[in-house]
Amino acid sequence: MDTKADEAPEGTRRDFLYYATAGAGVVVTGAAMWPLVDQMNPSADVRALLSIQVDISGVEPGTQLTVMWQGKPVFIRNRTPAEIEAALAEEVADLPDPFARNANLPADAPAVDANRVVPDQEALLVQIGVCTHLGCVPLGDGAGDFGGWFCPCHGSHYDAAGRIRRGPAPENLHIPPYALAEDGTLTIG
Ligand code: FES
Repeated sequence: MDTKADEAPEGTRRDFLYYATAGAGVVVTGAAMWPLVDQMNPSADVRALLSIQVDISGVEPGTQLTVMWQGKPVFIRNRTPAEIEAALAEEVADLPDPFARNANLPADAPAVDANRVVPDQEALLVQIGVCTHLGCVPLGDGAGDFGGWFCPCHGSHYDAAGRIRRGPAPENLHIPPYALAEDGTLTIG
């Protein structure tokens, strides 16, 4: 596993592009499905069902893999112990958006760290890499004032759990539906 993510902060955009490319290489199902489905010109509800499978066994602590799902980047972050500790220390009452924004949980689930990560995998954070302000792709690898992600378009800072902390973004980064198999295969969608 390449650890280019450790080279932040400079070159972060380049790293995103790198990982977007690398991520495409490990998507084992969705990529194969696209040509056939595209040829069939599926309806919107069929497209919405598409899912991808990603081997995340090589995502080392402190690195992030980015894959594309339904036209959006998805950040798969293996957090460091320091990132986990910082995220756990935050009180939900202090957060601009108190909801987890996790498609795998009820809409009113609170934004505690446990509701943001993969169940029983406190290091593993899977979230859609689209700023909830106007849709830019935030920079990662500890970017911003809260050790998570930073959207330079209008200055939104997200913490190590992807929760908005400062700036115009109204919501935490959204978490897509997913399931993690024992062999390290992550299904998104
Ligand atoms: S799009 Fe991210 S801060 Fe505006």
